[in-house]
Amino acid sequence: MAFDLEISFSKSLKLEGGDAVLLTLSDPLAPSGSAEADPENTFARAARAAEFKGKARSSIEILAPAGSAADRIIVIGLGKQADLTGQDWLKAGGVAAGKLGKAERVAIYLDLPGGAIDPAFAGEFALGMRLRAYEFDRFKTGKAGSAPEGEEDAAGKKRKKIRVTLVTAAASAAKKAFAEAEAVADGVILARELVNLPPNVLGPVEFAEKAEALAQLGAEVEILTEKDMRKLGMGALLGVAQGSVRPPRLAIIRWNGGKAKEKPVAFIGKGVVFDTGGISIKPGAGMEDMKGDMGGAAAVIGLLHTLAARKAKVNAIGILGLVENMPDGAAQRPGDIVTSMSGQTIEIINTDAEGRLVLADALWYCQDRFKPQIMIDLATLTGAIMVALGTDHAGLFSNDDGLAERLFAAGQATEEKLWRMPLGKAYDKLIDSRFADMKNTGGRNGGAITAAQFLQRFVNGTPWAHLDVAGTAMDSPKTEISQSWASGFGVRLLDRLVRDHYEG
Ligand code: BES
Ligand code: MN
Ligand code: ZN
Repeated sequence: MAFDLEISFSKSLKLEGGDAVLLTLSDPLAPSGSAEADPENTFARAARAAEFKGKARSSIEILAPAGSAADRIIVIGLGKQADLTGQDWLKAGGVAAGKLGKAERVAIYLDLPGGAIDPAFAGEFALGMRLRAYEFDRFKTGKAGSAPEGEEDAAGKKRKKIRVTLVTAAASAAKKAFAEAEAVADGVILARELVNLPPNVLGPVEFAEKAEALAQLGAEVEILTEKDMRKLGMGALLGVAQGSVRPPRLAIIRWNGGKAKEKPVAFIGKGVVFDTGGISIKPGAGMEDMKGDMGGAAAVIGLLHTLAARKAKVNAIGILGLVENMPDGAAQRPGDIVTSMSGQTIEIINTDAEGRLVLADALWYCQDRFKPQIMIDLATLTGAIMVALGTDHAGLFSNDDGLAERLFAAGQATEEKLWRMPLGKAYDKLIDSRFADMKNTGGRNGGAITAAQFLQRFVNGTPWAHLDVAGTAMDSPKTEISQSWASGFGVRLLDRLVRDHYEG
């Protein structure tokens, strides 16, 4: 069940009922806050009986010992103190949130032997809690707590709220770190929510409205309609859109948090709200998953939300190419030749290779108008990247080694992992066409690479990276920090990249 967390910080806390969450290391096995929550040290007996050793992400529960003011005590293992990283704290927060169950009020003691927790770690812990608490159940009527935040469900019940107090001697610094972590949590959750939403509810127009809402955070938002795009000559994007009764949109989100003269960093997302394949129609089995074919655009709007919410000192641009790929009487055909905004012509071989057509015009438009210092696109672009890398790494393609290295490092730091794939002339040749400047597919072999080669023809030499997130954005495994079909992949990764390299 989804629940909302109301997180606050405190230097100390007089327990008056509710649950207490204590943290412990494998050595010493002495939980934080135990004197307050477990004065009789019931924990020691329980740990012995259950052979609890305080290993990372293990936990043990103790029911209301007689001398305790807490109703229930949960002890969560962290492993070895010397090795603890932000990622460990993030996951520990996820584990803690996963243990809350029926609680309404919870105190969590963060400080370990040796003093107050590093405030940045407290922020990661709280972020882990928020991410774990998110679940997409708003369409499950009658299930208590299924109503969206602040609203009532069919049974007249409001969404459950759990009040959490994080106890640390460094409360005020931790609170500051948490404000930043909240911005990240909200960005990731926004991305997840959009990917999870059914395609009848989220079309290109509705998605564009979500982008417009970022104006509330101080971002500048422009929405281009079909007419605008026609004027610009975006024949590649419009060719994809023409088979749908729902018109396309191009959303442009600008966050100007950097110096006026500083060149922007740009993020471009594939936003195919539903991908039937078009006339080259996909098989029926599993087609419902193609509601997630806007995972790239979702990550971009989530990232821009985060940057704006935490007032990042950077000039950032987010561009969302929003279309639906449908087969109807007006749909484009294999054999059609379209002219992209760049002037280059494209022979359509397979209408299911639509993402690259959308991105071709979005990338060209981006570099032409904004002259960014870097462009990074995110797209659920190919099944081939899943064949190559499975679901544990997204594919990374780049024409710039420095940018690729920075992205790789951000992936390691956030565990939104990337693996670099090759580009090169031999692959590029595979998309030359007999009838036009290029064709939109390059055959079965190296399918993720030829897709990236196609995109590279529209970046005009700008330092660029392409992230193929088909395997990582949706249908994601449950983890300590995610119970959601949509992972929100890319938001934490790119927030890290911006933080480490592009903020002045
Ligand atoms: N949206 C799909 C790629 C995809 C597949 C995303 C599975 C997520 C899960 C993309 O538009 C597509 O259909 N790609 C084709 C390209 C082919 C026709 C060259 C593919 O990968 O089969
Ligand atoms: Mn497709
Ligand atoms: Zn697609």
